[in-house]
Amino acid sequence: MSETLENLLQENRQFPPPEALAAEANVTAAAYDEAAADRLGFWETQARRLTWATPWESVLDWSKPPFAKWFVGGQLNVAYNCLDRHVEAGRGSKVAIHWEGEPGDTRTITYAELHRSVCQAANALTALGVTAGDRVAIYMPMIPEAAVAMLACARIGATHSVVFGGFSVDALSGRIQDASAKVVITADGGYRRGKPSGLKSIVDDAVALCPTIEHVLVVRRTGQEVAWGDKDLWWHETVERASPEHVAQPFDAEHPLFILYTSGTTAKPKGILHTTGGYLTQVSYTHHAVFDLKPDTDVYWCTADIGWVTGHSYIVYGPLSNGATQIMYEGTPDTPHKGRFWEIVEKYKVTIIYTAPTLIRTMMKWGDDIPAKFDLSSLRILGSVGEPINPEAWMWYRKHIGRDACPVVDTWWQTETGGVMISPLPGVTAAKPGSAMSPLPGISADVVDDQGQSVPNGGGGYLVLREPWPSMLRTIWGDDQRFIDTYWSRFEGMYFAGDGAKRDNDGHLWLLGRVDDVMLVSGHNISTTEVESALVSHPSVAEAAVVGATDPTTGQAIVAFTIPRGHVDSEGAAGEALIAELRNHVAKTLGPIAKPRQIMLVAELPKTRSGKIMRRLLRDVAENRSLGDVTTLQDSTVMDLIASGMKSGK
Ligand code: WT7
Repeated sequence: MSETLENLLQENRQFPPPEALAAEANVTAAAYDEAAADRLGFWETQARRLTWATPWESVLDWSKPPFAKWFVGGQLNVAYNCLDRHVEAGRGSKVAIHWEGEPGDTRTITYAELHRSVCQAANALTALGVTAGDRVAIYMPMIPEAAVAMLACARIGATHSVVFGGFSVDALSGRIQDASAKVVITADGGYRRGKPSGLKSIVDDAVALCPTIEHVLVVRRTGQEVAWGDKDLWWHETVERASPEHVAQPFDAEHPLFILYTSGTTAKPKGILHTTGGYLTQVSYTHHAVFDLKPDTDVYWCTADIGWVTGHSYIVYGPLSNGATQIMYEGTPDTPHKGRFWEIVEKYKVTIIYTAPTLIRTMMKWGDDIPAKFDLSSLRILGSVGEPINPEAWMWYRKHIGRDACPVVDTWWQTETGGVMISPLPGVTAAKPGSAMSPLPGISADVVDDQGQSVPNGGGGYLVLREPWPSMLRTIWGDDQRFIDTYWSRFEGMYFAGDGAKRDNDGHLWLLGRVDDVMLVSGHNISTTEVESALVSHPSVAEAAVVGATDPTTGQAIVAFTIPRGHVDSEGAAGEALIAELRNHVAKTLGPIAKPRQIMLVAELPKTRSGKIMRRLLRDVAENRSLGDVTTLQDSTVMDLIASGMKSGK
C-alpha cells in the first residue's frame, strides 16, 4: 500500500462550514478536546443523553478483549428512549415519520401514534410467545410497520434480524436458521419500480425450510393474493387489535438488540451482533453530531433501506432517539420519474439528506437538469455513506444538490461498527472532496503499515481502530472464534476494518475501499478507487468501475468499465476516440503506471442491492471467464448488457 499512487493527496480544495451553521452547531471543536482529555468520560456524557432505568457501574469492561462490555450494570429500554420519553415530554403530536409510498400514497405518523403501534405490536408478539432473548426475523418493504416491528422487538427484549426485502429464499432461510428465529414479520409485498413485488411467497418457501418458525405475521400492503397456512396471521387482525397499553421493561446494557448479516463475498454471511446501551449511545450521539439535527426544525431523510445497517442506525434508532421528524420512502429513485427524490425534498422541505455515492453518481449520469427543476433550497446538510465518494461526485453533490452552500459529510463506518466512526462535523470541519477527514470525538482510528505501525502523514496502509467504541459489534452470532479471526488477528490488539486508507499531509483520512480491491501492476499497488476517481474526474464520465485482470507481462492489468454521461456520443469512432482520451487522462492524472490496459464503455455496472459494485463479476468478464454467483446482483440483465457492450468497446 505504501507505493500507492499519490493523486488523492493532491486534492487541495477545502470547504469550511457556513458561518451561521457553525455558530449554531450542536457540536463544536471543543468535543475533540473533551474526548481527547477523557475518552471514556466523553462517552459517559453522551450516554447521559439517553434515559436509563438503572445507571451503569462502570463505563467499559475491556478485561477480555476483543469482547467488550459498555455501561456495565446499566439498564434501559431502547423503545422507551425512541418513543415514550418524547411523548411524556409533551412532543407526542410531533411528526415522527412522513411516509411516502412509491405509488404516491402517503401516511403521517406522530410520535404518539408510533408509540401506540409499537405498544400494540409488543403486546401481540408477547401473546405469540415471544419473550426477551428470542429472535425475530423481519423481512419487509419500506413501510412504517418495518420500523414498528423493530421497535416492538426492542421493547420486549427480543433480538431482531432484519433481512433485506430483496433477498432470495436461500438468503432468508439461511439467516433464519443461523439465528433460530421463532417468528417472521413480513408483508404480502411492496412497491418497487411501479409494480407490486411479492414477499410472502418467498417467506412461505423459506419457512418450509425453517422448523424453528412458529408464526408468520403479515402486513397487508399491496393487497395481492397470498397463500395462507397454519402459521400465518394478519397484522391487522392481531397487532391492530392488541391493547395499546404496554409498560416497557428495562434491559441490561449488553442485552442483544439485533443481529444483522453481512454477506462476505464468498463465505457464509456473518451475523453481526449489536447490543443495547453502547449501540444506542453512539448512534444517537453521532446522529446528533454529524447531522447537527435540530429536532424542532429539521426534516431529515436517510434514503437507505431498513434492511441495511444504515437503516437500523440512521432511520430507526438514531433519529427516533433524537426525536427527529423524518421521511421514509418506499420505492426506487426513478419511479415514476428520475426526479422523484428531489420532488420529495421539495414537497417536505427536507433539510438533511443522507444517501450513497452510487446514487449520487447515478443522478450525475441522469443529468444536472433533473435536480435543477426542483426547489432544493430547504437543504442544509448532505451526507454520504457506503463506499468512497469520488471527489467529482462530492463536488457534484455539493453544487447541484447543495447549491454550493451545504456541508457534505462523508461518513465512514460499517455494519460491524454500528455507528459512524470517521466523518467531518458539519459545523467544524473544512471538508475536502472525497475525504472522510477525521475520526469523530471519542473514536481512535489509525492507518498502519503491514507491521501495524502508524504511517506518517502522506503515508498509506490499512485502516484500524485502536480502542473499543460503544456501538462496536460484540461478536459474530454463534461464532466467537470467527469474530476473533476476522477482525482481531491481522494486527495485535487492533480492529482491522478490511479497508485501505491514506493519511494526507494534513493528517486527514482517505478511504480507499476494501483491501481486496487493490491491484498489483508491475509491482506497484494501485487502488481501484483511485483509478475510478481519475476516470470520473473526466467530464464525459458518469461512473467507472476498475478491476485488476491477470496479465502475462504486468502481473495484473487495469481494466476499466466506464459509463459515459448522458450527453456524450460514444458510438463507433467517437467511442474509440473517447477511450483513447480516457486512457491518457488517467495516465496524466495518476502517472503512466496507472494507464488502463483496456477501457470498456458500458451502459450499466453490476451492483449489489446495497449499491456496491460487484468487481468480482467484472473480473470474470475482464479475464474471459464464465460468471460466478450472480444471486446478489440488483439487476441480473446488467451482465448481458456489459458482455454485449464489450464486444463493440474493444
Ligand atoms: C464498508 C462497510 C456503513 C453503512 C453502509 C455500508 C465501505 C462505507 C464508506 C465511506 C469509504 C466506505 C467500506 C466499509 N464504506 N462507508 N464513507 N468511504 N468507504 O456498510 O455494508 O457493512 O460496508 O463500506 O469499505 O468497510 P457495510
